[in-house]
Amino acid sequence: MKANSVVMCWIILVVLVCVEFEGCVGSKTDEAYVTLLYGDEFLLGVRVLGKSIRNTGSIKDMVVLVSDGVSDYAKTLLRADGWIVEMISLLANPNRVRPKRFWGVYTKLKIFNMTNYHKVVYLDADTIVVKNIDDLFKCGKFCANLKHSERLNSGVMVVEPSETVFNDMMRKIKTTASYTGGDQGFLNSYYPGFPNAHVFEPNLAPEVLSSRSIPEMERLSTLYNADVGLYMLANKWMVDENELRVIHYTLGPLKPWDWWTSWLLKPVDVWQDVREQLEESLPGTGGGQNPKDSFLVKFLFLLPFCALLFCCYHSFTKSQGYFSSLCRNSLCDQVRHLCYRIRSSGPLAYTNIFTSTTNSIHQLLNGDQNKVPGYLGGISVCVCFMVALVSLGLALLIVPRQVMPWTGLLLMYEWTFTIFFILFGGYIRLIYQWGKIVGSRVASSLSHPELSDYESEKRHQRQMLACDVAPWYYGLGMVMLAIAAPSLPCLFGITALFLRLGLMVVGGIILASFMTYASEHLAIRSFLKGFDEHNIARNSNSCFFC
Ligand SMILES: *[C@@H]1O[C@H](CO)[C@@H](O)[C@H](O)[C@H]1NC(C)=O
Repeated sequence: MKANSVVMCWIILVVLVCVEFEGCVGSKTDEAYVTLLYGDEFLLGVRVLGKSIRNTGSIKDMVVLVSDGVSDYAKTLLRADGWIVEMISLLANPNRVRPKRFWGVYTKLKIFNMTNYHKVVYLDADTIVVKNIDDLFKCGKFCANLKHSERLNSGVMVVEPSETVFNDMMRKIKTTASYTGGDQGFLNSYYPGFPNAHVFEPNLAPEVLSSRSIPEMERLSTLYNADVGLYMLANKWMVDENELRVIHYTLGPLKPWDWWTSWLLKPVDVWQDVREQLEESLPGTGGGQNPKDSFLVKFLFLLPFCALLFCCYHSFTKSQGYFSSLCRNSLCDQVRHLCYRIRSSGPLAYTNIFTSTTNSIHQLLNGDQNKVPGYLGGISVCVCFMVALVSLGLALLIVPRQVMPWTGLLLMYEWTFTIFFILFGGYIRLIYQWGKIVGSRVASSLSHPELSDYESEKRHQRQMLACDVAPWYYGLGMVMLAIAAPSLPCLFGITALFLRLGLMVVGGIILASFMTYASEHLAIRSFLKGFDEHNIARNSNSCFFC
Protein backbone atom coordinates (compact mmCIF):
# COMPACT_ATOMS: atom_id res chain seq x y z
CA MET A 1 0.00 0.00 0.00
CA LYS A 2 2.75 2.38 1.03
CA ALA A 3 4.75 1.68 -2.12
CA ASN A 4 1.70 2.38 -4.23
CA SER A 5 1.13 5.83 -2.76
CA VAL A 6 4.76 6.73 -3.32
CA VAL A 7 4.41 5.76 -6.97
CA MET A 8 1.22 7.81 -7.20
CA CYS A 9 3.00 10.79 -5.71
CA TRP A 10 5.77 10.47 -8.28
CA ILE A 11 3.34 10.27 -11.15
CA ILE A 12 1.53 13.39 -9.96
CA LEU A 13 4.84 15.19 -9.57
CA VAL A 14 5.97 14.23 -13.06
CA VAL A 15 2.65 15.37 -14.54
CA LEU A 16 2.89 18.67 -12.72
CA VAL A 17 6.44 19.25 -13.92
CA CYS A 18 5.34 18.44 -17.46
CA VAL A 19 2.48 20.87 -17.31
CA GLU A 20 4.93 23.50 -16.07
CA PHE A 21 7.34 22.85 -18.93
CA GLU A 22 5.31 22.19 -22.01
CA GLY A 23 8.28 20.93 -24.01
CA CYS A 24 8.89 18.04 -21.64
CA VAL A 25 6.64 15.51 -23.35
CA GLY A 26 7.68 16.66 -26.82
CA SER A 27 4.37 18.33 -27.59
CA LYS A 28 4.48 21.32 -29.89
CA THR A 29 4.20 24.70 -28.32
CA ASP A 30 1.74 27.11 -29.92
CA GLU A 31 4.41 29.76 -30.03
CA ALA A 32 7.65 29.51 -31.94
CA TYR A 33 10.80 31.26 -32.93
CA VAL A 34 11.14 31.30 -36.68
CA THR A 35 13.94 32.03 -39.06
CA LEU A 36 14.56 31.59 -42.76
CA LEU A 37 17.38 29.86 -44.59
CA TYR A 38 17.81 30.35 -48.33
CA GLY A 39 21.20 28.70 -48.72
CA ASP A 40 23.98 27.00 -46.81
CA GLU A 41 25.90 30.24 -46.46
CA PHE A 42 23.72 31.33 -43.56
CA LEU A 43 23.64 27.87 -41.94
CA LEU A 44 26.15 28.78 -39.25
CA GLY A 45 24.14 31.93 -38.51
CA VAL A 46 21.00 29.87 -37.88
CA ARG A 47 22.89 27.39 -35.71
CA VAL A 48 24.30 30.18 -33.55
CA LEU A 49 20.90 31.87 -33.35
CA GLY A 50 19.35 28.61 -32.13
CA LYS A 51 22.07 28.11 -29.57
CA SER A 52 21.66 31.67 -28.33
CA ILE A 53 17.88 31.19 -27.94
CA ARG A 54 18.40 28.00 -25.95
CA ASN A 55 21.09 29.71 -23.87
CA THR A 56 18.48 32.16 -22.61
CA GLY A 57 16.47 29.26 -21.25
CA SER A 58 13.62 29.37 -23.75
CA ILE A 59 11.92 26.07 -24.53
CA LYS A 60 9.65 27.32 -27.32
CA ASP A 61 9.70 25.63 -30.69
CA MET A 62 12.36 26.79 -33.09
CA VAL A 63 11.27 26.55 -36.70
CA VAL A 64 13.52 27.15 -39.66
CA LEU A 65 11.83 27.63 -43.02
CA VAL A 66 14.20 26.33 -45.68
CA SER A 67 13.97 26.79 -49.40
CA ASP A 68 15.27 24.34 -51.99
CA GLY A 69 18.68 26.04 -52.08
CA VAL A 70 19.53 24.38 -48.78
CA SER A 71 21.43 21.09 -48.77
CA ASP A 72 20.20 17.93 -47.06
CA TYR A 73 23.26 18.03 -44.82
CA ALA A 74 22.28 21.48 -43.55
CA LYS A 75 18.75 20.29 -42.83
CA THR A 76 20.00 17.23 -40.95
CA LEU A 77 22.39 19.36 -38.94
CA LEU A 78 19.70 21.87 -38.02
CA ARG A 79 17.36 19.06 -36.94
CA ALA A 80 20.17 17.66 -34.80
CA ASP A 81 20.56 21.11 -33.28
CA GLY A 82 16.91 21.06 -32.25
CA TRP A 83 15.31 23.03 -35.06
CA ILE A 84 12.04 22.04 -36.69
CA VAL A 85 12.82 22.16 -40.39
CA GLU A 86 9.97 23.12 -42.71
CA MET A 87 10.34 23.21 -46.45
CA ILE A 88 8.84 26.15 -48.29
CA SER A 89 8.83 27.25 -51.88
CA LEU A 90 10.23 30.66 -52.68
CA LEU A 91 7.87 33.56 -53.14
CA ALA A 92 8.94 35.39 -56.27
CA ASN A 93 9.92 39.03 -55.88
CA PRO A 94 7.47 41.08 -57.95
CA ASN A 95 9.80 44.09 -58.21
CA ARG A 96 11.80 44.36 -61.38
CA VAL A 97 14.11 47.01 -59.95
CA ARG A 98 15.76 45.52 -56.88
CA PRO A 99 19.14 44.43 -55.54
CA LYS A 100 20.16 41.07 -56.99
CA ARG A 101 20.37 39.36 -53.60
CA PHE A 102 16.68 40.21 -53.01
CA TRP A 103 15.30 37.62 -55.44
CA GLY A 104 13.67 35.52 -52.73
CA VAL A 105 13.18 37.85 -49.80
CA TYR A 106 9.39 38.09 -50.20
CA THR A 107 9.39 34.51 -48.92
CA LYS A 108 9.62 36.05 -45.46
CA LEU A 109 5.92 36.92 -45.78
CA LYS A 110 5.18 33.21 -45.42
CA ILE A 111 5.56 33.53 -41.67
CA PHE A 112 2.11 35.13 -41.77
CA ASN A 113 0.87 31.79 -43.08
CA MET A 114 2.23 29.66 -40.20
CA THR A 115 -1.26 29.22 -38.87
CA ASN A 116 -0.47 26.13 -36.81
CA TYR A 117 1.14 28.52 -34.34
CA HIS A 118 -0.72 31.13 -32.36
CA LYS A 119 2.21 33.52 -32.46
CA VAL A 120 5.69 33.51 -33.92
CA VAL A 121 8.76 35.61 -33.25
CA TYR A 122 10.71 35.96 -36.44
CA LEU A 123 14.48 36.54 -36.23
CA ASP A 124 16.87 37.03 -39.13
CA ALA A 125 19.71 34.52 -39.38
CA ASP A 126 22.18 37.33 -38.67
CA THR A 127 20.72 38.09 -35.25
CA ILE A 128 21.62 36.70 -31.88
CA VAL A 129 19.61 36.63 -28.67
CA VAL A 130 21.57 37.73 -25.62
CA LYS A 131 18.77 37.85 -23.06
CA ASN A 132 15.48 35.97 -22.82
CA ILE A 133 12.87 37.38 -25.19
CA ASP A 134 9.96 35.05 -24.45
CA ASP A 135 8.03 38.14 -23.36
CA LEU A 136 7.79 39.08 -27.05
CA PHE A 137 5.01 36.51 -27.42
CA LYS A 138 2.85 38.90 -25.43
CA CYS A 139 3.17 41.48 -28.18
CA GLY A 140 0.26 42.47 -30.45
CA LYS A 141 -0.67 41.07 -33.84
CA PHE A 142 2.28 42.64 -35.61
CA CYS A 143 5.32 44.06 -33.87
CA ALA A 144 8.58 45.29 -35.27
CA ASN A 145 11.27 47.81 -34.61
CA LEU A 146 11.48 51.27 -36.16
CA LYS A 147 14.71 52.06 -37.96
CA HIS A 148 15.87 54.10 -40.88
CA SER A 149 13.93 57.10 -39.64
CA GLU A 150 10.26 56.15 -39.73
CA ARG A 151 10.59 52.73 -41.27
CA LEU A 152 10.19 49.36 -39.68
CA ASN A 153 12.94 46.79 -39.88
CA SER A 154 11.88 43.27 -40.75
CA GLY A 155 14.86 41.63 -39.02
CA VAL A 156 12.96 41.01 -35.79
CA MET A 157 9.18 40.73 -35.90
CA VAL A 158 6.38 39.32 -33.84
CA VAL A 159 3.54 38.01 -35.98
CA GLU A 160 0.20 36.47 -35.26
CA PRO A 161 -0.18 34.19 -38.27
CA SER A 162 -3.49 34.60 -40.04
CA GLU A 163 -4.74 33.18 -43.28
CA THR A 164 -6.81 36.31 -43.89
CA VAL A 165 -3.85 38.63 -43.52
CA PHE A 166 -1.62 36.37 -45.57
CA ASN A 167 -4.09 36.09 -48.43
CA ASP A 168 -4.63 39.85 -48.33
CA MET A 169 -0.90 40.34 -48.60
CA MET A 170 -0.68 37.95 -51.53
CA ARG A 171 -3.42 39.90 -53.28
CA LYS A 172 -1.65 43.22 -52.76
CA ILE A 173 1.87 42.01 -53.39
CA LYS A 174 2.01 43.17 -57.00
CA THR A 175 0.43 46.56 -56.45
CA THR A 176 2.13 47.61 -53.24
CA ALA A 177 5.24 49.74 -53.56
CA SER A 178 8.45 48.59 -51.85
CA TYR A 179 11.09 51.23 -51.16
CA THR A 180 13.79 48.57 -50.71
CA GLY A 181 12.63 46.34 -53.53
CA GLY A 182 12.18 43.66 -50.87
CA ASP A 183 9.87 42.40 -48.15
CA GLN A 184 10.81 45.22 -45.76
CA GLY A 185 9.63 47.87 -48.17
CA PHE A 186 6.45 45.90 -48.78
CA LEU A 187 5.68 45.61 -45.06
CA ASN A 188 6.26 49.33 -44.62
CA SER A 189 3.68 50.04 -47.28
CA TYR A 190 1.32 47.35 -46.01
CA TYR A 191 1.38 48.78 -42.47
CA PRO A 192 1.35 52.51 -43.25
CA GLY A 193 0.30 53.49 -39.74
CA PHE A 194 3.16 51.64 -38.10
CA PRO A 195 5.27 54.66 -37.08
CA ASN A 196 2.35 55.83 -34.93
CA ALA A 197 2.01 52.51 -33.12
CA HIS A 198 2.60 52.45 -29.37
CA VAL A 199 5.75 51.01 -27.94
CA PHE A 200 5.38 47.44 -26.70
CA GLU A 201 5.41 47.32 -22.92
CA PRO A 202 6.47 43.83 -21.78
CA ASN A 203 5.71 44.31 -18.09
CA LEU A 204 2.04 45.29 -18.21
CA ALA A 205 -0.05 43.94 -15.37
CA PRO A 206 -2.21 40.90 -16.33
CA GLU A 207 -5.40 42.89 -15.55
CA VAL A 208 -4.44 45.53 -18.07
CA LEU A 209 -3.54 42.88 -20.62
CA SER A 210 -6.83 41.07 -20.31
CA SER A 211 -8.96 44.21 -20.28
CA ARG A 212 -7.56 45.84 -23.43
CA SER A 213 -8.12 44.67 -26.98
CA ILE A 214 -5.10 43.14 -28.69
CA PRO A 215 -3.29 45.94 -30.53
CA GLU A 216 -3.01 45.57 -34.28
CA MET A 217 0.57 46.80 -34.25
CA GLU A 218 3.15 47.60 -31.64
CA ARG A 219 6.63 49.03 -31.87
CA LEU A 220 9.51 47.15 -30.31
CA SER A 221 12.19 49.09 -28.50
CA THR A 222 15.73 49.12 -29.83
CA LEU A 223 16.67 46.56 -27.19
CA TYR A 224 14.94 43.89 -29.29
CA ASN A 225 16.77 44.76 -32.47
CA ALA A 226 20.02 46.57 -31.73
CA ASP A 227 22.00 46.67 -34.93
CA VAL A 228 25.76 46.91 -35.00
CA GLY A 229 25.47 50.00 -37.19
CA LEU A 230 24.14 51.71 -34.08
CA TYR A 231 27.14 50.49 -32.12
CA MET A 232 29.57 51.65 -34.75
CA LEU A 233 28.34 55.24 -34.67
CA ALA A 234 29.35 55.87 -31.08
CA ASN A 235 31.54 52.81 -30.51
CA LYS A 236 29.18 51.69 -27.76
CA TRP A 237 25.61 50.50 -27.47
CA MET A 238 23.58 53.64 -27.13
CA VAL A 239 21.08 51.72 -25.02
CA ASP A 240 21.49 50.08 -21.63
CA GLU A 241 23.89 47.27 -22.42
CA ASN A 242 22.62 45.05 -19.59
CA GLU A 243 19.10 45.24 -20.97
CA LEU A 244 20.10 44.37 -24.52
CA ARG A 245 18.03 41.47 -25.92
CA VAL A 246 18.79 40.96 -29.59
CA ILE A 247 21.85 42.03 -31.55
CA HIS A 248 21.39 42.34 -35.30
CA TYR A 249 24.53 42.18 -37.44
CA THR A 250 23.42 44.36 -40.30
CA LEU A 251 26.48 46.05 -41.66
CA GLY A 252 26.15 45.28 -45.34
CA PRO A 253 28.50 42.47 -46.27
CA LEU A 254 30.10 42.24 -42.83
CA LYS A 255 28.45 39.07 -41.59
CA PRO A 256 29.55 37.71 -38.21
CA TRP A 257 30.40 34.26 -39.59
CA ASP A 258 33.09 35.60 -41.92
CA TRP A 259 36.36 35.40 -40.03
CA TRP A 260 37.49 38.94 -40.88
CA THR A 261 34.41 40.64 -39.44
CA SER A 262 35.58 39.71 -35.99
CA TRP A 263 38.69 41.82 -36.52
CA LEU A 264 36.65 44.87 -37.51
CA LEU A 265 33.54 44.88 -35.34
CA LYS A 266 33.78 44.53 -31.60
CA PRO A 267 30.19 43.25 -31.05
CA VAL A 268 31.02 40.16 -33.11
CA ASP A 269 32.86 38.82 -30.04
CA VAL A 270 29.47 38.05 -28.48
CA TRP A 271 28.48 36.07 -31.56
CA GLN A 272 31.76 34.18 -31.65
CA ASP A 273 31.38 33.27 -27.97
CA VAL A 274 28.07 31.58 -28.67
CA ARG A 275 29.47 29.94 -31.77
CA GLU A 276 32.23 28.31 -29.73
CA GLN A 277 29.59 26.80 -27.47
CA LEU A 278 27.87 25.00 -30.34
CA GLU A 279 27.57 21.31 -29.64
CA GLU A 280 28.79 18.54 -31.88
CA SER A 281 25.32 17.65 -33.16
CA LEU A 282 26.85 15.84 -36.12
CA PRO A 283 30.46 14.58 -36.25
CA GLY A 284 32.91 17.44 -36.62
CA THR A 285 30.44 20.27 -36.12
CA GLY A 286 31.31 21.23 -32.53
CA GLY A 287 32.25 24.87 -32.08
CA GLY A 288 30.51 25.75 -35.33
CA GLN A 289 33.08 23.89 -37.38
CA ASN A 290 32.44 22.37 -40.73
CA PRO A 291 34.08 18.97 -41.35
CA LYS A 292 34.99 19.93 -44.90
CA ASP A 293 36.54 23.21 -43.79
CA SER A 294 38.48 21.59 -40.96
CA PHE A 295 40.19 19.27 -43.39
CA LEU A 296 40.90 22.10 -45.81
CA VAL A 297 42.28 24.26 -43.01
CA LYS A 298 44.75 21.56 -41.96
CA PHE A 299 45.79 21.03 -45.55
CA LEU A 300 46.22 24.74 -46.22
CA PHE A 301 48.13 25.23 -43.01
CA LEU A 302 50.62 22.44 -43.70
CA LEU A 303 51.10 22.81 -47.43
CA PRO A 304 53.41 25.86 -47.42
CA PHE A 305 55.54 24.31 -44.67
CA CYS A 306 55.83 21.04 -46.59
CA ALA A 307 56.75 22.94 -49.73
CA LEU A 308 59.39 24.90 -47.83
CA LEU A 309 60.85 21.75 -46.29
CA PHE A 310 60.90 19.98 -49.63
CA CYS A 311 62.54 22.97 -51.28
CA CYS A 312 65.24 23.21 -48.66
CA TYR A 313 65.85 19.49 -48.79
CA HIS A 314 66.08 19.68 -52.55
CA SER A 315 68.58 22.52 -52.56
CA PHE A 316 70.48 20.86 -49.76
CA THR A 317 70.99 17.61 -51.63
CA LYS A 318 71.83 19.54 -54.76
CA SER A 319 74.78 21.30 -53.22
CA GLN A 320 75.61 19.42 -50.09
CA GLY A 321 79.15 20.36 -49.14
CA TYR A 322 79.00 23.68 -50.86
CA PHE A 323 75.78 24.63 -49.17
CA SER A 324 76.90 23.97 -45.63
CA SER A 325 80.15 25.86 -46.01
CA LEU A 326 78.36 28.71 -47.71
CA CYS A 327 75.86 28.92 -44.94
CA ARG A 328 78.46 28.86 -42.23
CA ASN A 329 80.61 31.45 -43.93
CA SER A 330 77.94 33.85 -44.88
CA LEU A 331 76.29 33.52 -41.50
CA CYS A 332 79.57 34.18 -39.71
CA ASP A 333 80.29 37.05 -42.02
CA GLN A 334 76.94 38.50 -41.32
CA VAL A 335 77.26 38.26 -37.58
CA ARG A 336 80.70 39.83 -37.76
CA HIS A 337 79.38 42.49 -40.08
CA LEU A 338 76.50 43.25 -37.75
CA CYS A 339 78.72 43.35 -34.67
CA TYR A 340 81.00 45.73 -36.40
CA ARG A 341 78.16 47.97 -37.39
CA ILE A 342 76.63 47.96 -33.98
CA ARG A 343 79.97 48.72 -32.32
CA SER A 344 80.77 51.49 -34.70
CA SER A 345 77.42 53.20 -34.61
CA GLY A 346 76.02 52.64 -31.15
CA PRO A 347 72.33 52.92 -30.51
CA LEU A 348 71.43 54.01 -34.01
CA ALA A 349 72.62 50.67 -35.32
CA TYR A 350 69.45 49.66 -37.03
CA THR A 351 69.00 52.70 -39.19
CA ASN A 352 72.69 52.72 -39.87
CA ILE A 353 72.71 49.26 -41.28
CA PHE A 354 70.11 50.35 -43.70
CA THR A 355 71.62 53.64 -44.68
CA SER A 356 75.11 52.22 -44.93
CA THR A 357 74.11 49.29 -47.07
CA THR A 358 72.11 51.68 -49.15
CA ASN A 359 75.12 53.97 -49.48
CA SER A 360 77.39 51.16 -50.57
CA ILE A 361 74.79 50.04 -53.04
CA HIS A 362 74.56 53.58 -54.30
CA GLN A 363 78.30 53.79 -54.69
CA LEU A 364 78.24 50.63 -56.66
CA LEU A 365 75.24 51.64 -58.60
CA ASN A 366 76.68 54.97 -59.58
CA GLY A 367 79.40 53.29 -61.57
CA ASP A 368 76.91 50.86 -63.03
CA GLN A 369 74.15 53.28 -63.69
CA ASN A 370 74.56 52.91 -67.42
CA LYS A 371 74.14 49.15 -67.20
CA VAL A 372 70.82 49.15 -65.38
CA PRO A 373 67.85 50.06 -67.53
CA GLY A 374 66.32 53.22 -66.13
CA TYR A 375 62.85 51.79 -65.98
CA LEU A 376 63.81 48.70 -63.98
CA GLY A 377 63.10 50.38 -60.65
CA GLY A 378 59.70 51.63 -61.71
CA ILE A 379 58.68 48.30 -63.16
CA SER A 380 59.80 46.48 -60.04
CA VAL A 381 57.75 48.71 -57.81
CA CYS A 382 54.68 48.12 -59.98
CA VAL A 383 55.30 44.38 -60.07
CA CYS A 384 55.80 44.31 -56.31
CA PHE A 385 52.45 46.00 -55.65
CA MET A 386 50.63 43.92 -58.20
CA VAL A 387 52.08 40.75 -56.72
CA ALA A 388 51.07 41.94 -53.25
CA LEU A 389 47.51 42.57 -54.42
CA VAL A 390 47.32 39.26 -56.24
CA SER A 391 48.62 37.31 -53.26
CA LEU A 392 46.21 39.08 -50.94
CA GLY A 393 43.31 38.35 -53.27
CA LEU A 394 44.30 34.73 -53.83
CA ALA A 395 44.77 34.17 -50.11
CA LEU A 396 41.31 35.63 -49.45
CA LEU A 397 39.88 33.24 -52.03
CA ILE A 398 41.74 30.23 -50.68
CA VAL A 399 40.99 30.63 -46.97
CA PRO A 400 37.51 29.31 -46.09
CA ARG A 401 35.31 32.20 -44.97
CA GLN A 402 33.62 30.72 -41.96
CA VAL A 403 36.64 29.57 -39.97
CA MET A 404 37.46 30.97 -36.55
CA PRO A 405 38.89 34.51 -36.59
CA TRP A 406 42.37 33.46 -35.49
CA THR A 407 42.53 30.56 -37.91
CA GLY A 408 41.46 32.85 -40.70
CA LEU A 409 44.03 35.49 -39.83
CA LEU A 410 46.93 33.05 -39.53
CA LEU A 411 46.03 31.22 -42.74
CA MET A 412 45.62 34.54 -44.47
CA TYR A 413 49.11 35.64 -43.47
CA GLU A 414 50.65 32.30 -44.29
CA TRP A 415 49.19 32.22 -47.76
CA THR A 416 49.71 35.87 -48.58
CA PHE A 417 53.38 35.58 -47.69
CA THR A 418 53.79 32.27 -49.48
CA ILE A 419 52.23 33.48 -52.69
CA PHE A 420 54.01 36.83 -52.48
CA PHE A 421 57.45 35.32 -51.98
CA ILE A 422 56.96 32.73 -54.68
CA LEU A 423 55.77 35.29 -57.24
CA PHE A 424 58.13 38.11 -56.34
CA GLY A 425 61.03 35.70 -55.89
CA GLY A 426 60.28 34.42 -59.37
CA TYR A 427 60.33 37.96 -60.69
CA ILE A 428 63.68 38.67 -59.00
CA ARG A 429 65.17 35.55 -60.56
CA LEU A 430 63.83 36.64 -63.90
CA ILE A 431 65.61 39.97 -63.48
CA TYR A 432 68.75 38.08 -62.57
CA GLN A 433 68.55 36.10 -65.80
CA TRP A 434 67.95 39.30 -67.68
CA GLY A 435 71.05 40.80 -66.08
CA LYS A 436 72.99 37.75 -67.19
CA ILE A 437 71.87 38.12 -70.78
CA VAL A 438 72.74 41.82 -70.87
CA GLY A 439 76.04 41.04 -69.16
CA SER A 440 77.15 38.46 -71.68
CA ARG A 441 76.10 40.72 -74.52
CA VAL A 442 78.18 43.59 -73.17
CA ALA A 443 81.09 41.28 -72.43
CA SER A 444 81.21 39.99 -75.98
CA SER A 445 81.01 43.48 -77.48
CA LEU A 446 83.81 45.10 -75.47
CA SER A 447 86.71 43.31 -73.89
CA HIS A 448 89.19 45.86 -72.61
CA PRO A 449 91.82 44.26 -70.41
CA GLU A 450 91.91 47.16 -67.93
CA LEU A 451 88.16 47.35 -67.81
CA SER A 452 87.88 43.70 -67.03
CA ASP A 453 90.45 44.20 -64.32
CA TYR A 454 88.31 46.92 -62.85
CA GLU A 455 85.31 44.74 -63.35
CA SER A 456 86.79 41.79 -61.55
CA GLU A 457 87.85 43.98 -58.66
CA LYS A 458 84.37 45.30 -58.40
CA ARG A 459 82.90 41.89 -58.82
CA HIS A 460 84.85 40.78 -55.82
CA GLN A 461 83.55 43.74 -53.91
CA ARG A 462 80.03 42.95 -54.91
CA GLN A 463 80.37 39.27 -54.19
CA MET A 464 80.96 40.27 -50.59
CA LEU A 465 77.71 42.12 -50.76
CA ALA A 466 76.06 39.57 -52.95
CA CYS A 467 75.41 36.85 -50.47
CA ASP A 468 74.67 39.07 -47.57
CA VAL A 469 71.27 38.84 -46.04
CA ALA A 470 69.92 42.08 -47.46
CA PRO A 471 67.08 40.23 -49.16
CA TRP A 472 66.32 38.71 -45.79
CA TYR A 473 66.26 42.12 -44.19
CA TYR A 474 63.85 43.29 -46.82
CA GLY A 475 61.72 40.19 -46.61
CA LEU A 476 61.60 40.21 -42.84
CA GLY A 477 60.96 43.93 -42.84
CA MET A 478 57.98 43.46 -45.11
CA VAL A 479 56.67 40.56 -43.03
CA MET A 480 57.02 42.53 -39.82
CA LEU A 481 55.38 45.64 -41.23
CA ALA A 482 52.61 43.56 -42.79
CA ILE A 483 51.90 42.05 -39.39
CA ALA A 484 52.25 45.35 -37.54
CA ALA A 485 50.03 47.40 -39.85
CA PRO A 486 46.74 45.58 -39.19
CA SER A 487 47.53 44.97 -35.53
CA LEU A 488 48.21 48.63 -34.72
CA PRO A 489 44.60 49.20 -33.55
CA CYS A 490 44.76 46.14 -31.32
CA LEU A 491 48.04 47.30 -29.82
CA PHE A 492 46.51 50.65 -29.01
CA GLY A 493 43.28 49.01 -27.90
CA ILE A 494 41.20 50.93 -30.41
CA THR A 495 37.78 49.49 -31.12
CA ALA A 496 36.09 52.24 -33.12
CA LEU A 497 35.65 51.02 -36.68
CA PHE A 498 36.71 54.18 -38.45
CA LEU A 499 39.71 54.80 -36.20
CA ARG A 500 40.67 51.17 -36.71
CA LEU A 501 40.46 51.49 -40.45
CA GLY A 502 42.35 54.79 -40.32
CA LEU A 503 45.21 53.29 -38.35
CA MET A 504 45.32 50.35 -40.71
CA VAL A 505 45.61 52.76 -43.61
CA VAL A 506 48.53 54.53 -41.89
CA GLY A 507 50.23 51.18 -41.32
CA GLY A 508 49.50 50.29 -44.92
CA ILE A 509 51.14 53.47 -46.19
CA ILE A 510 54.30 52.76 -44.18
CA LEU A 511 54.32 49.22 -45.52
CA ALA A 512 53.80 50.48 -49.05
CA SER A 513 56.72 52.91 -48.84
CA PHE A 514 58.95 50.18 -47.52
CA MET A 515 57.83 47.87 -50.30
CA THR A 516 58.58 50.55 -52.88
CA TYR A 517 62.10 50.95 -51.56
CA ALA A 518 62.75 47.25 -51.09
CA SER A 519 61.41 46.07 -54.41
CA GLU A 520 63.44 48.62 -56.37
CA HIS A 521 66.67 47.78 -54.63
CA LEU A 522 66.19 44.05 -54.75
CA ALA A 523 65.53 44.16 -58.47
CA ILE A 524 68.55 46.36 -59.23
CA ARG A 525 70.83 44.20 -57.09
CA SER A 526 69.68 41.07 -58.72
CA PHE A 527 70.09 42.58 -62.17
CA LEU A 528 73.66 43.65 -61.39
CA LYS A 529 74.43 40.29 -59.89
CA GLY A 530 73.22 38.61 -63.02
CA PHE A 531 75.23 41.06 -65.05
CA ASP A 532 78.42 40.19 -63.18
CA GLU A 533 77.87 36.49 -63.06
CA HIS A 534 76.97 36.12 -66.69
CA ASN A 535 79.62 33.47 -67.13
CA ILE A 536 79.12 31.68 -63.84
CA ALA A 537 76.79 28.75 -63.70
CA ARG A 538 74.64 29.37 -60.68
CA ASN A 539 74.33 26.57 -58.20
CA SER A 540 73.35 28.17 -54.98
CA ASN A 541 70.06 27.20 -53.48
CA SER A 542 67.07 28.01 -55.52
CA CYS A 543 64.61 28.65 -52.73
CA PHE A 544 65.56 32.16 -51.94
CA PHE A 545 66.42 35.42 -53.54
CA CYS A 546 70.05 35.08 -52.65
C1 LIG B 1 -0.41 28.68 -46.54
O1 LIG B 1 -0.68 27.65 -45.60
C2 LIG B 1 -1.61 26.70 -46.05
C3 LIG B 1 -1.93 25.77 -44.93
O2 LIG B 1 -0.94 25.67 -44.00
C4 LIG B 1 -1.06 25.97 -47.28
O3 LIG B 1 -1.97 25.02 -47.76
C5 LIG B 1 -0.73 27.00 -48.35
O4 LIG B 1 -0.12 26.36 -49.44
C6 LIG B 1 0.16 28.08 -47.81
N1 LIG B 1 0.34 29.10 -48.83
C7 LIG B 1 1.49 29.42 -49.37
C8 LIG B 1 1.50 30.44 -50.47
O5 LIG B 1 2.54 28.92 -49.03
